[in-house]
Amino acid sequence: MPQQDEKPDRPSLFQRIRYSIFPGTLRAEKVREGYRRLFNSLILHFRPRNVPEDTLRWTLTWGLGGMAVMLVFLLLGTGILLKFVYQPFPEKAYESILHLQNEVSFGRLIRNIHHWSANALILVAFLHLLRVFFTGAFHAPRQFNWVIGTTSFLLILFSNFTGYLLPWDQLAFWAITICTGMLEYIPLIGLGIQKLIQGGAEVGPGTLSNFYAIHTAILPALLLILMPFHFWRIRKAGGLVIPRGPEQSTGDRGPSVPAIPNLLLREMVVALMLFAAVLLFSMLFNAPLGNKANPGLSPNPTKAPWYFMGIQEMLLHFHPVFALFVIPALMLIALLALPYIDYQMNTAGVWFASTKGRSMAFVAALTALIGTPLGIVADEYLIEVAARLPAIPTWVTNGLVPFALLLAAGGAFYVFMQRKYAASNTEAVQMVFVLVVAAFLVLTVTGIWFRGTGMKLAWPWNMGTPGA
Ligand code: HEM
Ligand code: HEM
Repeated sequence: MPQQDEKPDRPSLFQRIRYSIFPGTLRAEKVREGYRRLFNSLILHFRPRNVPEDTLRWTLTWGLGGMAVMLVFLLLGTGILLKFVYQPFPEKAYESILHLQNEVSFGRLIRNIHHWSANALILVAFLHLLRVFFTGAFHAPRQFNWVIGTTSFLLILFSNFTGYLLPWDQLAFWAITICTGMLEYIPLIGLGIQKLIQGGAEVGPGTLSNFYAIHTAILPALLLILMPFHFWRIRKAGGLVIPRGPEQSTGDRGPSVPAIPNLLLREMVVALMLFAAVLLFSMLFNAPLGNKANPGLSPNPTKAPWYFMGIQEMLLHFHPVFALFVIPALMLIALLALPYIDYQMNTAGVWFASTKGRSMAFVAALTALIGTPLGIVADEYLIEVAARLPAIPTWVTNGLVPFALLLAAGGAFYVFMQRKYAASNTEAVQMVFVLVVAAFLVLTVTGIWFRGTGMKLAWPWNMGTPGA
């Protein structure tokens, strides 16, 4: 073995090339040690050397955070490949997708992987949010990581939304037309934002090039900045929450084990299984592609992308200012403020906060699952009458009245539950969260599967294929 300050007697070609680039590596051992230290100190900001054995339990994370990371990397990889063929101009975009699918080797597969990974990422990130919430992993010192996570979730939604337009088929064109059309209901700044995003008065070449730049540069860059920040915060919080029963105290961390191989192996298994599943799915199911966009012919019904259908469904029941602005803004503010409420119990690591919390969450979910469809049907057939009353403006009959009724029903439910369970505010917040999330999911499912021509209620098997 060479001495630290000596050049090896007969350096190999590879070593000679390396010395020509980094002359310092003549002192190979010393430098290697330096690199190792630098690498370790960088990596150890994100990766722990040891992890509490209990946090390795599959039933704590379900591997969901790791799956989200894997999907983001798949999207970056396939997205870069798509850029070689895709052309962001209205007269060429659709044809470039056809060319990609029919003539480029593995083109269709790459597009399918990008499409299905993007949709899967919304589901996985949402489930990850639920697991973080229901294991109380938003309490101090993880509050800010919840905010970073929520921001990442918004970035994922907007990545999906901007990608949706790119194929420039009927589905894409009209979905983006109605979604950007909704922006004008945001008070004061709505019209300005709409014009800015559309790059003109309506969806056209300006919109496509805007969406393309945002989709392939700005959003991926933001996501790539936020993700390491997210991991660094986990590290700073001393790792994941330690799973425990409702009666166990927070102090006990249990024994630790080396992260390599214990954590690494588990991460690899999740990543490989997910990759296999996405690949298989992409081989079996093609990403949809309708006819080329025709700005003169809107499909009926015209629907937003599925992840915004809950909001489009609300639009059928509330005045646009409430459906598109007041309610979503309140939901977002509540989500961001959630970790900063002054809680009576720190439930970090306890699934559903407590036994009482679990029953309350169950009752809330059941109430929303039964109450929301009833509300939708009642609104469709009964409350339309109110809109026909001539003297009262629609923002009162369609906006203020239903919104007030909603608040009153929610308030009554809250008071009833508080009396019945005498719960802490931690359990009460969880109950409200479950109520709102379950109601929103019912709205989303109704919008996707139970709205037909003219957005009338219909059974899924009575609907055509929009955008075909
Ligand atoms: C691009 C999206 C996201 C990625 C790639 C991601 C990744 C991860 C990973 C790998 C972990 C550790 C393992 C695990 O918990 O499964 C984690 C933990 C965490 N995530 Fe995310 N996440 C994302 C979105 C979110 C969202 C939407 C939220 C919540 C609003 C969130 C909040 C958190 C919190 C608070 C932790 C720490 C949990 C604990 O200490 O137990 N993340 N995330
Ligand atoms: C979180 C990250 C991303 C998400 C959620 C996402 C989502 C999407 C979606 C939903 C589509 C429409 C797919 C279809 O049905 O045809 C799309 C298309 C596209 N994306 Fe992404 N994407 C992401 C990252 C990227 C990146 C990093 C690039 C490039 C650097 C990229 C480039 C493209 C291109 C060129 C298309 C048009 C081709 C096509 O529509 O098949 N994407 N993306």
